[in-house]
Amino acid sequence: MVGRALWLALESAGFTQIIGRTRAELDLRETAATDAFLQSEKPDVILIAAAKVGGIEANRTQPADFLFDNLQIQTNLIHGAYTHQTGKLLFLGSACIYPRLAEQPMREDSLFTGRVEPTNEGYAAAKLAGLKMCQAYREQHDCDFITAIPTNLFGRHDHYEPERSHVIPALIAKYHTAKANGEASVTNWGTGAPQREFLTVDDAAAACVFLLDNYSAAEPINIAGGTEVSIRNLNEKIAALTGYTGAVEWDTKKPDGMPRKLLDSTRLAALGWHPKINFDDGLKMAYEDYCARVA
Ligand SMILES: NC(=O)c1ccc[n+]([C@@H]2O[C@H](COP(=O)([O-])OP(=O)(O)OC[C@H]3O[C@@H](n4cnc5c(N)ncnc54)[C@H](OP(=O)(O)O)[C@@H]3O)[C@@H](O)[C@H]2O)c1
Repeated sequence: MVGRALWLALESAGFTQIIGRTRAELDLRETAATDAFLQSEKPDVILIAAAKVGGIEANRTQPADFLFDNLQIQTNLIHGAYTHQTGKLLFLGSACIYPRLAEQPMREDSLFTGRVEPTNEGYAAAKLAGLKMCQAYREQHDCDFITAIPTNLFGRHDHYEPERSHVIPALIAKYHTAKANGEASVTNWGTGAPQREFLTVDDAAAACVFLLDNYSAAEPINIAGGTEVSIRNLNEKIAALTGYTGAVEWDTKKPDGMPRKLLDSTRLAALGWHPKINFDDGLKMAYEDYCARVA
């Protein structure tokens, strides 16, 4: 999802020599193949959008794969960028690398101050190692490697499979199906009170391109400033978008999760970057993409 959006954002920023490989063409876990690719293409800039990404169940049952794949991919690219003298590298973290009990909104300086959420510890440990690698190569070898941490993203080319979808694609699929099947009611977990922050993947990609020109520091930077919305309000918006008119029920015996979760956007806003896409327009784009590709 992020890789496709980055490609489009780079094109709209005027880049004409964008090089990409599918996983079938280049398995980034393979050190020799990745090195040969960097040797032949000699990129000026590397944006690492590849990662093994998954939901709670996949993280719980395959912690070794999440660690191995992500450590391999990022190590091959970060070390390779150093040996092939790539001018700039952008590595992507994720909100789940913050300590589970970090103060909200989560500031970059709260990283490494506490234990991450145990259900995605392998994934988070690999991402934290990638962040440290970018810092270490900057310090020891003067490499311009940066880490950006996007908040929850949604939009075109999202994943709708139940075992790996995030909340917005999961709700789009749920309400679309309920409408198609004429279901009288849908039930959600909890009270709907928790607040979550969302940013479109197109805005996040535009922020990454902005950072290539406007950010060069060891400290990671959040890509945030998205819309904060309650889960209840999000359900109402998506039900309306899909045309679902049945009842929406809340099983308040089920847990709510964290009451609020968002990233602090002060550092990015101070550089002059702000999201451009209105949340409701973003939801509409996501639903159109779902209808065109999946439904
Ligand atoms: N989506 C979000 O809400 C979000 C939020 C914050 C940060 N991020 C970060 O953004 C990055 C991309 O996430 P995404 O949502 O775009 O995930 P995605 O849609 O699953 O994209 C990941 C891509 O990496 C490829 N890949 C996986 N293993 C590979 C390998 N060994 N060699 C080559 N390619 C490989 C995948 O190919 P296959 O599909 O063929 O496996 C896929 O195309 C991740 O680092 C993630 O942590 C995402």
